[in-house]
Amino acid sequence: MTSPEHASRARGLGKIILLGEHAVVYGHKAVAGAIDRGVACEQEPSEGASRLRIPDWRIDVQVGDEHPVARAFDALLSAAECSKVDVRARTDLPAAAGLGSSAALCVAIARSLRPDLTGDALRVLASVGEECFHERPSGIDVALSCAGGIGIFTRSAGLHALACPSLPLVVGLSGVQRSTAAMVAGVAGRVADGGQAKAQIERIGTLAEAGQQALLSGKLELLGGLMSECHQALQDLGVSINALDTMVEVAGEAGALGAKLTGAGGGGAMIALAPGREPQVREALQSRGFDAFITTLGATP
Ligand code: MEV
Repeated sequence: MTSPEHASRARGLGKIILLGEHAVVYGHKAVAGAIDRGVACEQEPSEGASRLRIPDWRIDVQVGDEHPVARAFDALLSAAECSKVDVRARTDLPAAAGLGSSAALCVAIARSLRPDLTGDALRVLASVGEECFHERPSGIDVALSCAGGIGIFTRSAGLHALACPSLPLVVGLSGVQRSTAAMVAGVAGRVADGGQAKAQIERIGTLAEAGQQALLSGKLELLGGLMSECHQALQDLGVSINALDTMVEVAGEAGALGAKLTGAGGGGAMIALAPGREPQVREALQSRGFDAFITTLGATP
């Protein structure tokens, strides 16, 4: 089977949110990009029930199984009007780590089932699967997974590409898997209770606005500072954990301009902006026992 790096049509990209997670659910802007890791699918006709295998995530399900991946697969098959297919996926994305793994899987499956679809039609089909994983997703993960690049996303206007160079980032993994749906629901509860959560959502939205300008004008020091402030806001929102805070600290000590958790939090990944010092930051994280890698924001499908 084609490797995730080289598959063309049936590929879905992972994503990283630079600024704006959680606030994007409430209509604010997020600044984000697709990364050079993802999911690639191949399919062939099956004699029996439709089956989906993802050995990298130790998943092997059939339609009708009581498993979230089986439910998403089933929904995608129905929406694509396909049946009796055997789909195999390969991936270099960690699952449930805030890097858009479920969206990348849904986009790759959608592309393999319906290679005739592009643009909005592809996005709409893949979203049918993504909605089985996450209640009330903003849509940012699927939009970036389909389109690639770096962009601004809002719920109302969707994804708008930003004309800026691709950006190397260091990713550190906490090793803690979590559910985006549960994290988003927890934030919704705190926002509904009033208090500080609503203010943090507004603060994150303002940081994303400023981040867009910093990115467009190439002011990376400013961007790094905004990222670190965003991590503080996400901490105050209650979605960080000790491992993420530790990685942010380690990245800063190793020379990063800024660092923050990315995605829903509660576990998952941290990102650090460290132009020219990416290997040092990656090694500092590894020396503290965290898995880490360097990736490029702005990958294209
Ligand atoms: C998911 O990658 C980021 C969140 O903002 C949820 C969403 O946008 O659907 C936490």
